[in-house]
This record gives sequence, structure tokens and C-alpha cells, in this order.
Amino acid sequence: MKGRFYIVGVGPGDPELLTLKAVRLLQRCPVWLTPKAKKAGAGTALSIVQGVVPSGDKEILTHYFPMKKIHADRRPAPDVEEAWQKAAVLVIDRLNSGKDVVFPTLGDPSIYSTGFYVCQTLFDIDPEIHVEIVPGVSSMEASAAAAGLPLCLGDDRMVVIPAIFENGYLREMLLTFDTVVLMKVHRVMDRLVPLLVELDLLKNAVLVERSSQEKQRIYRDLAALSEKEMHYFSTVIVRRS
Ligand SMILES: C[S@@+](CC[C@H](N)C(=O)[O-])C[C@H]1O[C@@H](n2cnc3c(N)ncnc32)[C@H](O)[C@@H]1O
Repeated sequence: MKGRFYIVGVGPGDPELLTLKAVRLLQRCPVWLTPKAKKAGAGTALSIVQGVVPSGDKEILTHYFPMKKIHADRRPAPDVEEAWQKAAVLVIDRLNSGKDVVFPTLGDPSIYSTGFYVCQTLFDIDPEIHVEIVPGVSSMEASAAAAGLPLCLGDDRMVVIPAIFENGYLREMLLTFDTVVLMKVHRVMDRLVPLLVELDLLKNAVLVERSSQEKQRIYRDLAALSEKEMHYFSTVIVRRS
């Protein structure tokens, strides 16, 4: 019998935010395909799970996925697609030999996770593959909790967007929604802060860096950050009310 592929959200960093189901699947699956965003090092998802589940007897396939802009209506850069293909080949090989494979992914798999691209690539190769997706605590939830903010109340409308896209798009979102969650803000503070000033929203914004992790920091004065490059694990929440 062929193995199964599990895409498992492992939360934003605090191992106590792993679900019981995630822990059980990580314990049970003999193969872990773990993503990393830099060629060197092990990747955050792996370090989160290794704090909870012993990995000595696991086959750990640490796979590099380049981080580049992906537009829904366009093909990604060739090295991005190549990384998905290579990952899918590694997974198919293990599934065909009857082994279950788990893909631990930061936060929740439904929010900007490579897991879904790998999943689609797997289906393109073998539409019969059995895939299960296990939700996790997302970094926006952990960031809101750290900042002591609700994301939505009453008839609020919320949008989640990567801040790497141009300011025109961000302006439109900031003018339309009650809550705007901005991910991938780390390298764009120099243009995000002036935009918040222009829209008189600076006082409504909070940046949470490394939420739920040991080095978590909460910044409420974003003006002081406009010249800074933040950690990649930084999220800005803007609430109108
Ligand atoms: C590729 S997205 C992954 C989101 C993830 N799937 C989730 O559910 O949180 C990466 C972005 O998530 C946010 N992020 C991830 N972990 C974070 C953390 N611990 N604290 C704050 N933001 C985080 C940052 O905005 C980062 O640039």
C-alpha cells in the first residue's frame, strides 16, 4: 500500500502551540520533509518540532525552497518550480515504498505555505495520492494575541496580504478593510511607514516580531522602524477602530 502525505501546521514558534494531532503525526511518520528558506541551516519548522518530538529515528529530508514573489496568475521563477518538482519526487519515492511522509510547515498551512505548491505538484505527477492537511496556529493569530488585539469583532472585515507588493495595492487594502494583516514586512518598512503616515494610520499599527518565540518583540511606534530591516518573522496588524 502506498504511503500518505501530511501537510502539518506547526504554529509560529512556541512548541506549546503545536497541536496534539501534529505531534501524533510527527511521531508516527517515518519521513519528514522539512522546508528551509536559506541554503544553509535546518529551517524553522524543523527546529520547532525537534523541541517536542524526538527525530533520531526519522529520515529527515531538509529541502531548500527559494523565497520569491509568486503571482496567482503567472508561472513562478524556474528555480522555485524546480524546488517543488524535486520535493515532489522525493515524496513520491517514499510514498511508493509505503512510507508516510509529513511536511511540517510554519504557522498554518493554508496561509502562504509552500506545502500547497508541493501538494499540487504531487497531484500533477500522481492524482491518486492521499494528502491530508492539518491546521496549525497561524502567526497572525499569535501576533494578535501578543499585541492584545482582536483581529475581527462585530462586522469587521479583515484582509491578509504580503507587504512586498507595491504601495498602490497596499493603500487600497488599508482604505478598504477594518483590519489589515501585513506579512513579509521585514524589508519594506521604509515605504510602509510613510504610507501609514499618509493614511493617518500609524497610531493604529503594531508590529510583532517573532511572535510566541523567545525573542518576541512588540513595537507600537513604527515610525522608529522606518530605517530598519526587521526579522523575517515580523507581522504588522493595522486596525482602524
Ligand atoms: C511565508 S509566510 C508563512 C505564514 C505561516 N504559514 C502562518 O500561518 O503564519 C511568512 C510570514 O509569516 C509571518 N510570520 C511567520 N512566523 C512569524 C512569527 N513567529 N511572528 C510574526 N510573524 C511571523 C511573517 O510576516 C513572515 O514574513
